[in-house]
Amino acid sequence: MTIREILKMGDPRLLRQAEPVQVFDTPELQALLADMRQTMAAAHGAGLAAPQIGVNLQVVIFGSTVVNPRYPDRELVPPTVLINPVIAPLGPQEDLDWEGCLSVPGLRAMVPRWSHIRYTGFDDKGQPIDRTVQGFHARVVQHECDHLIGMLYPMRVRDFSRFGFTEVLFPDISAVEDD
Ligand code: NI
Repeated sequence: MTIREILKMGDPRLLRQAEPVQVFDTPELQALLADMRQTMAAAHGAGLAAPQIGVNLQVVIFGSTVVNPRYPDRELVPPTVLINPVIAPLGPQEDLDWEGCLSVPGLRAMVPRWSHIRYTGFDDKGQPIDRTVQGFHARVVQHECDHLIGMLYPMRVRDFSRFGFTEVLFPDISAVEDD
């Protein structure tokens, strides 16, 4: 297990379309997931996508059994490995809420996301995942899966008057940020 370098916005590797995983539960896949878990934990991330450590595969992890100090007021999202995901919105309703990203350190913006989604995919063993979620859970999934199509949250921002530095917007949270 290794804490890997997290690529930052501006790196062209964050703009690629990720490749689907073809074979599950391999030593290589488990090693990738171990590195991703350790890297996410070290950075207090709410989630991490493989392209953020330079691995161009459709693999994301998110969730936690404890409250995330970077998002202290949000609901708990179960720890999840999601591979080859597909997201479908359930209705046109959107939520607007603050987001940050380990690849965009030190900044937050108000980002619109679908309120209710169904997402499908596979876990690390190749077992199917099929969940209908809303709120913060839905937001985290949409944010992480955007990394698999080369999208970073600033590309989703519509109102740039609500885009700023975490230390200015949220002085309490910035104290626990590593970035
Ligand atoms: Ni991100």
